Amino acid sequence: MDTIDSLTKLFDDACVLTDAESLQTYGKDWTKIHQPNPLAIVFPKSTEQVQALVKYANQESLALVPSGGRTGLSGGAVAANQEIVVSFDKMNQILDFNSLDRSVQCQAGVVTQQLQNLATENNLFYPVDFASSGSTQIGGNISTNAGGIKVVGYGLTRNWVLGLTVVTGAGEILKLNHGLVKNATGYDLRQLFIGAEGTLGFVTEATMKLARAPQNFSVMVLAISDIPALMKVFDAFQNALDLSAFEFFSELTLHYMHTDKGYAKPTETDAPFYALLEFDNDNEQREAKALETFEYCMEQDWVVDGVMSQSIEQAKTLWKLREDISETIAVYTPYKNDLSVIISKVPEFLKKVDEVVANNYSEFEVLWYGHIGDGNLHLNILKPADMDAAEFTQKCSVVNHQVFEIMQTLEGSISAEHGVGLLKRDYLHYSRSPEEIATMKAVKVVFDPNGIMNPGKML
Ligand code: MLT
Ligand code: ZN
Repeated sequence: MDTIDSLTKLFDDACVLTDAESLQTYGKDWTKIHQPNPLAIVFPKSTEQVQALVKYANQESLALVPSGGRTGLSGGAVAANQEIVVSFDKMNQILDFNSLDRSVQCQAGVVTQQLQNLATENNLFYPVDFASSGSTQIGGNISTNAGGIKVVGYGLTRNWVLGLTVVTGAGEILKLNHGLVKNATGYDLRQLFIGAEGTLGFVTEATMKLARAPQNFSVMVLAISDIPALMKVFDAFQNALDLSAFEFFSELTLHYMHTDKGYAKPTETDAPFYALLEFDNDNEQREAKALETFEYCMEQDWVVDGVMSQSIEQAKTLWKLREDISETIAVYTPYKNDLSVIISKVPEFLKKVDEVVANNYSEFEVLWYGHIGDGNLHLNILKPADMDAAEFTQKCSVVNHQVFEIMQTLEGSISAEHGVGLLKRDYLHYSRSPEEIATMKAVKVVFDPNGIMNPGKML
């Protein structure tokens, strides 16, 4: 029996796709660098079906690639080598909600927004958020330890995972931590699967934690003269208020939001950088504190102009200036870097990387934006319309080693939140020591002895 017949026996006709369009769609994520070339797409409906598939793949030495919302930016969900893509689209059920535990049990294919909406309907809050929350799936968020725009206030996806069901590469089902808040019984294996990009096994179900819903929030956008001033503004605001977000974007980035999207500029005065901050504003003292801090930052000449939202609607409009950047600039096929250092090193990091950028990319437009309150900056180089994509990628990647050497000296990360996948795999050693990489490889062998789970990604 050939592979496709066997897969059809394991699933059913409707859950195995091999047509050209599906292979193209499900064989890639948002990176456009690799040509998708999967063997088939399968749509399991249960953990047991995933287990049966993994056992079969082990027997036949077939490679499996997990597929969620396919919004990844590092090629982690790309299938370019005749792999079987395992889509979690049909495992999209919310299985349980418990108000006392403040927890939701989800299948891996539950879309982030589905979870956020369920939380809101129950007057609670799922705080991990990003522009693509309408398409990303919980399993993918967990496998990449997704960050997003509220990490300053709420942390990464890792903070919100109470329990996991996984199918390991050896075909075992592990139920990890059972939703417990406290569990001091040795190694927390759940944490190993978070951010593992499906290289150890596939997440099939998760118990996610919810938070108390913020009663009201306000957003400020501040025009700022330089990065050292921006960090001082962050320090002043984080000392004055509980911030839920502290993001930034450069003047050129704002220019694109203005010209391409028609979004109004937030302030009358232009500045090289803009900070966007959000805070819970459920009493007058908080608002007074925010305004007092704003005035203090103006007096220090750190801030040259600013605006504070007067309604939730206005807050959402201001957020669009930051949230819609990635989608807006996608037409310019940007070459992306996703870098991080500890917060206090951000000015040094940006100065050094900017020098490399100025020396090498003078012919290109360079956009900076990102989660500066996490020390995470996105460096995007825009492709000139008349330049061939392959030539552009080649020109941009020439300076990777210089940029990553800077990251290494600063003990930063070459991928803060987008993951390693295929794109950053060969640069992993800039952020991880040989001993760490050897340990990671040894861990992979324990869970995936035949190397069938998302092979070639990360390691
Ligand atoms: C963002 O922060 O907007 C996302 O990580 C996507 C991107 O970097 O373009
Ligand atoms: Zn980001």
